[in-house]
Amino acid sequence: MTTDTTTTDTFPGTPTPGRTVLDARGVTMRFGGLTAVSGVDLTVRSGEIVGLIGPNGAGKTTFFNCLTGLYTPTEGEVRYKDKLLPPQSFKVTAAGVARTFQNIRLFANMTVLENVLVGRHTRTKEGFWSAVLRGPGFHRAEATSRARATELLQFVGLSEKADHLARNLPYGEQRKLEIARALASEPGLLLLDEPTAGMNPQETRATEELVFAIRDQGIAVLVIEHDMRFIFNLCDRVAVLVQGKKLIEGDSATVQGDERVIAAYLGEPLENDPGAAEAAEVEAAQAQAAGHPKDTAAGKETDR
Ligand SMILES: Nc1ncnc2c1ncn2[C@@H]1O[C@H](COP(=O)(O)OP(=O)(O)OP(=O)(O)O)[C@@H](O)[C@H]1O
Ligand SMILES: [Mg+2]
Repeated sequence: MTTDTTTTDTFPGTPTPGRTVLDARGVTMRFGGLTAVSGVDLTVRSGEIVGLIGPNGAGKTTFFNCLTGLYTPTEGEVRYKDKLLPPQSFKVTAAGVARTFQNIRLFANMTVLENVLVGRHTRTKEGFWSAVLRGPGFHRAEATSRARATELLQFVGLSEKADHLARNLPYGEQRKLEIARALASEPGLLLLDEPTAGMNPQETRATEELVFAIRDQGIAVLVIEHDMRFIFNLCDRVAVLVQGKKLIEGDSATVQGDERVIAAYLGEPLENDPGAAEAAEVEAAQAQAAGHPKDTAAGKETDR
């Protein structure tokens, strides 16, 4: 891992982050009248694990899609290691940015090993004719790819399942396989979209260790997750998206302690919310039926 000793804005207790690998500036994505992402700036440096959190529909996946060439942002720029990223996903992968998907995208009828081999195609130079003619160059490249894919399966803990069909893996293992496939493109930055969704606590814990191990190999990580314990244990920095805008960014303690973040997750009660009045009425009626008259906004009995 390269470290840039000129970087000074680090958090105590975390490894010194290095050069900026991802630099997203003013990223905006509109779908017709809906602004899903609005003017978002975000950087990720080598050696860092950065979290991206926010309520459902906040624009997190859309932002990832803008970073990986699936969408061309309506406004803004995305640079990877100082170069503008092209608006095509295979070129983004070739440039060094890999990702996993919120809705798992594996080749269900291929084996686990074959899925990882597919992930290597941006790194193999062997072209079409080489594959058809199957000369010595092709066999050499294939052997190297297989060795690397096998190594990656071991790294994520799936080597026993190499010959299984992807569709027969339990959900948690499919997520791990997506990570192995993403790593097969030898990225410098890995984007994970809800890597622990559907996992049990043990699997989540193992994924946490896996992400630390990925970081320790010199790969910067940007991760979306709803599991707050996972995010706050793992991340050097966390950015919060709410309704497409970045609300706050900081270390775990800062973000956890910010009242706006709590409000964004719980939702603030609307003034004169008819739903709230209805709920209070139901609650009061239930209390009365049980013989415990309860305070209501209309008729308070005591001044507690
Ligand atoms: N291709 C699209 N066309 C139109 N609207 C879209 C499209 N993709 C996303 N949206 C809208 O953009 C908003 C943000 O969606 P997005 O999937 O990015 O949210 P998210 O933060 O990833 O949510 P979740 O936590 O539920 O995954 C939503 O209102 C969604 O309906
Ligand atoms: Mg999403």
